[in-house]
Amino acid sequence: MGKLDGKVGVITGGCSGIGLATVRKFAAEGAKVVIADLDEVRGKEIADEVDGSFVRADVTDADDVAAMFAHAKETYGRIDIAFNNAGISPADDDSILKTGIDAWDRVQNVNLTSVYLCCKAVLPYMLEQGSGSIINTASFVAVMGAATSQISYTASKGGVLAMTRELGVQFARKGIRVNSLCPGPVNTPLLQELFAKDPERAARRLVHVPMGRFAEPEEIANAVAFLGSDESSFITATDFLVDGGLSNA
Ligand code: NAI
Repeated sequence: MGKLDGKVGVITGGCSGIGLATVRKFAAEGAKVVIADLDEVRGKEIADEVDGSFVRADVTDADDVAAMFAHAKETYGRIDIAFNNAGISPADDDSILKTGIDAWDRVQNVNLTSVYLCCKAVLPYMLEQGSGSIINTASFVAVMGAATSQISYTASKGGVLAMTRELGVQFARKGIRVNSLCPGPVNTPLLQELFAKDPERAARRLVHVPMGRFAEPEEIANAVAFLGSDESSFITATDFLVDGGLSNA
C-alpha cells in the first residue's frame, strides 16, 4: 500500500530537482502522475520511467496551465494533488540596487503569477470533487531575513506564502487543503547554478544551516508526498518548512 494509492497528482517543474524527485516519490507511493515542464525530451523520458504522462506547459501561460489540468482530468479522471513547483532563480545580480524591472517581472511571472494561474485553474476540479491538496513551492527566504541579495526572488516567494494562506483559509470547509512548501537550500541544478556564479555563497549559506548540509531533493519530495496524502488531513494554510533548522537558527 502506498500513501498516495488511487490519487492523481500534477507536478510542475517535474523534469528537474525537487519536481523530478517528487514525480518519482509520487509514483512509488502509488499515484498517477502528470509531469508538466518546458523540457519535452526529458519530460517524455521521465513519463516513460514512472508510467506517467507528460504535458509541455509554460506555467506563465494561462492557456498552457488550463490545458495541463484538463489533460490530467481527461487522462486519469480526477485531480487530487497539484504541486505548483516550477520556479527560477534570477539570471543576474538581483540586489535591489542592481535588478531591473524586466528581470523583476520575469521572476514574478514564473515564481508567483504561475502559482496564481495554477490555483485558479485547478480549484474548479477540486471543488467539484469536494477534495484536493494544493502545494505551492515557496522558500525559506520568504520567512526570514537572509542576506541573499535576491530581492525579486524573495518577494515572489513571499507572495506565494501570502496567497497560499489566504486560499487555505478560504477553501478549508470545501475539503481542499492549500499549503506552502518552504525548502531550505536543496542540492539541485537551480542551487548549483547559483553557486557557480558565486562560489563563496555556498560556504556562507552552509554555515547557517544547523544540520551542516544542504537537503537532497528526495528529502523535500518526502514532505510533498506527506502534504499530498491523507496523513496531513488537518494541515492547511501553513508555511511548511523543510529547512534543516535554518530559519530558526
Ligand atoms: P530546478 O531548476 O532543478 O528545476 C526547475 C524546473 O522548473 C525545471 O525542470 C525547469 O525546466 C522548470 N521550469 C522553469 N520555468 C518553467 C516554466 N515557465 N514553465 C514550466 N516549467 C518551468 O529547480 P529546483 O531547485 O528543483 O526548484 C524547484 C522549486 O523549488 C522552485 O520554485 C525554486 O524556487 C524552489 N526552491 C528551491 C530551492 C533550492 O535550494 N534548490 C530552495 C527553496 C525553494
